[in-house]
Amino acid sequence: DGESNIFFEKDENLGEEEYIMKTENGKTYIKSASAAGQLYALQTLKQILFQNGFSLPDVEILDKPTHKIRGFMLDVGRYFYTVDEVKTFIRRMAMHKLNLFHFHLTEDQGWRIQIDKYPQLTEIGSVRHGTSLGKEVNDADYGGYYTKDEIREVVAYAKSLYIDTIPEIDLPGHTSALLASLPEMVCGDKKVEVKKTAGVFKDIICAGREKNYEIIFDILDEVCELFPYEYFHIGGDEAPKKQWKECPECQAKIKAEGLANEEELQGYFVNRISEYLRNKGKKVVSWNESLNGGNLNDEATIQFWLDGEKRYEKYPDLDIIVSDFFAYYMDYPYEMTPLKKTYCYDEKIAKKVIGVEAPVWTEYIPDFKRMTYLCFPRNIAVAQTGWCENKPSYEKFESDLCNLMGMFDTTDWAPKSDWNRNQLAQKIGTAKFFIDKLNKDFTKQLIGNMRDK
Ligand code: ACM
Ligand code: ZN
Repeated sequence: DGESNIFFEKDENLGEEEYIMKTENGKTYIKSASAAGQLYALQTLKQILFQNGFSLPDVEILDKPTHKIRGFMLDVGRYFYTVDEVKTFIRRMAMHKLNLFHFHLTEDQGWRIQIDKYPQLTEIGSVRHGTSLGKEVNDADYGGYYTKDEIREVVAYAKSLYIDTIPEIDLPGHTSALLASLPEMVCGDKKVEVKKTAGVFKDIICAGREKNYEIIFDILDEVCELFPYEYFHIGGDEAPKKQWKECPECQAKIKAEGLANEEELQGYFVNRISEYLRNKGKKVVSWNESLNGGNLNDEATIQFWLDGEKRYEKYPDLDIIVSDFFAYYMDYPYEMTPLKKTYCYDEKIAKKVIGVEAPVWTEYIPDFKRMTYLCFPRNIAVAQTGWCENKPSYEKFESDLCNLMGMFDTTDWAPKSDWNRNQLAQKIGTAKFFIDKLNKDFTKQLIGNMRDK
C-alpha cells in the first residue's frame, strides 16, 4: 500500500506550484508550498510508478512550471457540451498539470450562460433556428445553456483539481446571439439573428451608445459572481468596423473622445470595460485585435492568436498568453498542425509571456469524440511547453508519451499514425479539411464580406 508511504511537508520557500519529490527505499517525500504542488507531485509519482512496472526507484526531482498560466479553451457557443463532458475535459487537463480552463461562453451561434437580469439572452440567444456548418446542414432548432448552478458545479469541480475557470464574454464582435436577444444594443436598427453559419459577422455592439455600457456592466456583474478568479476574458477578436464606420452614434463617440478611428474606438471600449472590471478586482484578458488601435491601456493581458509577432515589441509591459493559430489551435486537423509542430513551437515571442493556451473552436466539432481526437495528444504538447523550461527533444517527448499512454484513457485519441503525416499527406489532408468546411451559406457570407470591404 503506497499511500501510507507518502510524506508531505509544507515549504513556503518554494514557488506556488513548485514541488520537490524524493523517493528512497519505497518512501516518497514531497515538499511544496501549496496543495496544487502536492497534486502535481502525485501526478509525477504515478508516471514514475507506471514507467517502472509499479516499483519505485530512488529519485530526486525538483519541478516547477515554466508559465504561470497553462490553459485550455473550450468553445461551447458553436456546439454545446454537457456539464459531464466539460468535467471530463477538465479532469483530463488536470492529468497534464494544466491550471486554467477558459470557458468561451458566448458566440454568434449561441449564448450559453444564464443572466437573471436579461433572460432574453438565453430564451432567444441560446437557440439558433437551423445549422449550416460545413457538412452539418439542417433546419432543426439547436440550443443549450448552463444555469448558474451548472456553472458553479463546473467551477467547483475544476477548483478541486486546482484549475481556475475563467469566463469569456466575447465583446464587441461575435455578438449576434446577444444582439438577437437585446436588439437595442446594435448599431442602427438592424435586425440580427442567432447565426447558423460559421464566419466573421459584421453585426456588432454599438460602442457609441452609453446605455450599452450599462447593460454590459450588468451582465459582467452577474458573470463575475460565478467566477472567483483574477482574470476575466472579454474577447475582442474579429470585430469588423463597417457598422461603426456607418453609425452616427459611434462616430459621435469617436469625436467626443478625441479618437482617431474605429480601431481606437475598440481600444476605448476595452479600456472602459477593463476599468470597470478592475474596480471589481478583476484583470481583463483580450484577444490581440484590441491592440490594433494602439490606445489600449497597459492593464489588459493579451491573448495572442494571429498577428505579426513584431507588434509586441511596442508593448513590452503587457502580459501575453500565447495561443498561436498555426501551432496551438486544436480545431485544425493533424495534417495542418502535426503534433511535432505543436510541441516544437517556440512560445517565447515576447518579454512577458505568462502563459500558453490551446483553444478548441467548435464550428466543425459537433461531438465530444471528435474533440478528443483533435485534442489528444496535441494538448499534452502544449502542457509540456507550459511546464518544462528546458523541453527535451520531440523524439524524447514522443517516446515518453508512448510509454505513458497506458496510464490514460486513450479511447478516441488520435492514433500515432496520424500525429505527423508525410508532407504530401499533410497537403492533401489540409486541403480536404478546408474544402469540407465550405458550403453554400458559408461561401455566400464570405463573398458578401469581401464585397462590403
Ligand atoms: C479567434 O480565433 N477568433 C480568437
Ligand atoms: Zn454604433
